[in-house]
Amino acid sequence: MPAKTVSIKDFRRMKESGTPIVALTAYEALFASIMDEAGVDLILVGDSLANVFQGRPTTIPVTLDQMIYHGEIVARSVSHAFVIVDLPFLSFQVNADDAVRNAGEVMKRTLCSGVKLEGGVAVAGTVRRLVDTGIPVLGHVGLTPQSVHVFGGFALRGRDDRQKVIDDAVAVQDAGAFAVVLEKIPKDLAAEITKKLSIPTIGIGAGPDCDGQILVTPDMLGLFTQYKPAFVRRYAELAGESSNGIRRFIEDVRSRNFPSDSESYQ
Ligand code: KIV
Repeated sequence: MPAKTVSIKDFRRMKESGTPIVALTAYEALFASIMDEAGVDLILVGDSLANVFQGRPTTIPVTLDQMIYHGEIVARSVSHAFVIVDLPFLSFQVNADDAVRNAGEVMKRTLCSGVKLEGGVAVAGTVRRLVDTGIPVLGHVGLTPQSVHVFGGFALRGRDDRQKVIDDAVAVQDAGAFAVVLEKIPKDLAAEITKKLSIPTIGIGAGPDCDGQILVTPDMLGLFTQYKPAFVRRYAELAGESSNGIRRFIEDVRSRNFPSDSESYQ
């Protein structure tokens, strides 16, 4: 069991000491407590729950109430890690007042440690308002999945728009974000941004030189297998394992091999 609760101050210290930050996503109590006990530093209740939990192709339909529902369950199941809840599409883009109200609801009803929101220069004013309100913000630049229809897909960012990704990362840092996720950008760009910023960068598909790494848990445990981005490393094959277990259960029930005497009350 990890000794202490992670605080916002630990992330800057980890960057300074060169200790990589370990982050994963969680959506429910079982995996949240497993990863917390294992010693993950930051748990993100990601709006990727649209893909891996709701079976949707994009994160656009996720609602604030759904994020609060999952966020409350995860935050209640975690005693060590820093828990961040994603702000879903349209909960922060309309204006900063709306964003403060919605992020405030997330904080009050989930008791998480902070929120994440996608975007850079365009949302910097909102990030500043949230931080001034007392809400820690994790930024997210590069491939921002809520903008998939503007990008025309989930392709790599930062090749033709390298300076824009840098400007976005700097803007969220200057607005008060405590760290920033860099998603699906070339590794040399991620290294440049990581060197430039005083806040930590947490990469997903951004190469080895970020201050930390995050993966979507059902991807890295091989539970979500519909597609596998090149940046995902699988540490388990839970979909195959689960399917085998379920097939064996079907066989045992059909052959009346389950339940046995010891699995029955006398
Ligand atoms: O929603 C999510 O899981 C994320 C990660 C990919 C960083 O934003």
